[in-house]
Amino acid sequence: MIRSLLALAIGAPAGVQTGLNNATTASVGSNLLESANTSWELGTAAEALTEFYWPSLSVFRASGFPPPTTLSSDEALDVIEIARNTVQTKSVQSLPLVEGDGAVGDPASLGVAVLLAAWTYGNDSDNPYWQAASNQLDYLLHVAPRTDDGAISHRTDQVQLWSDFVYMAPPFIAYFGMLQGGDSGLSQMQTAYQQCQLYRNYLKDDSGLWRHVALGSWQDNTHWGTGNGWAAAGMLRVLQTLSGSDQADALVDERNDLTTWIQEIVNATWSLQKENGTLYNTLDDDTSFADSSATALLASVTYRMAYITGDDTYLEAANRALALVEGSIDEDGWLTNTVDPYTFSSPTAPGSHSPEGQAFVLLLQSTWRDYWLAQLSQDVFDLAVNAGS
Ligand SMILES: *[C@@H]1O[C@H](CO)[C@@H](O)[C@H](O)[C@H]1NC(C)=O
Ligand SMILES: *[C@@H]1O[C@H](CO)[C@@H](O)[C@H](O)[C@H]1NC(C)=O
Ligand SMILES: *[C@@H]1O[C@H](CO)[C@@H](O)[C@H](O)[C@H]1NC(C)=O
Ligand SMILES: *[C@@H]1O[C@H](CO)[C@@H](O)[C@H](O)[C@H]1NC(C)=O
Ligand SMILES: *[C@@H]1O[C@H](CO)[C@@H](O)[C@H](O)[C@H]1NC(C)=O
Repeated sequence: MIRSLLALAIGAPAGVQTGLNNATTASVGSNLLESANTSWELGTAAEALTEFYWPSLSVFRASGFPPPTTLSSDEALDVIEIARNTVQTKSVQSLPLVEGDGAVGDPASLGVAVLLAAWTYGNDSDNPYWQAASNQLDYLLHVAPRTDDGAISHRTDQVQLWSDFVYMAPPFIAYFGMLQGGDSGLSQMQTAYQQCQLYRNYLKDDSGLWRHVALGSWQDNTHWGTGNGWAAAGMLRVLQTLSGSDQADALVDERNDLTTWIQEIVNATWSLQKENGTLYNTLDDDTSFADSSATALLASVTYRMAYITGDDTYLEAANRALALVEGSIDEDGWLTNTVDPYTFSSPTAPGSHSPEGQAFVLLLQSTWRDYWLAQLSQDVFDLAVNAGS
């Protein structure tokens, strides 16, 4: 009913998909903070909280280029807290932001939050966040193992490439370069792009989708839904960072490529969507199972790409995905029907949850909001938020 009411209000027959209401997003967010524990979960949580609650500081708004050097008293406290805990927990000598993680990429996912803390710290002569972020960059660029052609390994103990890496490290490298500026900043932004390019060379196949893990002692050749989401969402963050930087004009080819590469994944994904809006954990394998978390992450990328490019080919698919995700959030604010994020290949056991899935819900709500805010008047938009469950 509310959909047709909205359609009337805006005089458009196309359905306006309602988003989540504030009570739901609040409990989704507090469950995220309660459950996020590993490096990549905390890094992804920091990104999702920034994008949803503090969008003016994010790479998805012009005001984030660069962000202000001081925050108002309660601004982004949740994000800064994650950065503070990270930097306080590690030893000063550690190059990675999390010691002994096993993954090269995952600790770097905390880097954007640490850079935001550095930028807004207010004392450049004694700024522990700059040091920590510089050490993390140094580790990625000069210490971590690589392939012969330069792809930085996702693992510390062998050269192995995981699609997950693309969300964890290149966005941090690009953000570092954007804040730094000048020739070295430009070179870091180009490095972030090149890592996306190299990872795509290794992981993308003729389907347009990316395999999960290549090289090293074992491989995962399946088209993992979340992995394709990590790759697309990571390239999207890099694209936004390059596009917002004051060197965007020197990065036109890179931005065009990134746009194409994200679209490649988006285009290959939605023809595989099921009747009820879900994607499967292995996107193109019907013996796999429904996974609401990959559905949320890929839908969030799809809304954002529609917003950026104006191409709404996959908007209906994203709307149906959002409706599925909305229906998969239980009354306590947990996303259900997720893949177990630690096995990649089995559903989350009853009573357990997916912290990254919680973050993907906030990412989805953020991009839904930005897309529809641009289409609707504030009044009609508020109606769409309040109508959500
Ligand atoms: C929902 O939260 C947003 C900020 O996240 C706020 O601007 C808006 O007024 C809230 N809406 C309602 C109905 O409380
Ligand atoms: C949190 O992560 C640490 C290190 O990865 C692990 O040892 C610990 O068991 C985890 N705690 C929970 C509650 O999952
Ligand atoms: C900045 O840090 C230095 C070194 O710890 C200290 O001496 C100085 O007072 C600090 N400045 C401000 C504005 O806090
Ligand atoms: C993806 O699909 C859109 C809409 O059909 C099309 O404009 C775009 O060229 C496609 N991009 C790629 C890389 O396949
Ligand atoms: C959606 O459909 C799939 C079958 O394609 C099914 O496995 C899944 O349980 C359904 N999800 C919901 C929430 O109904």
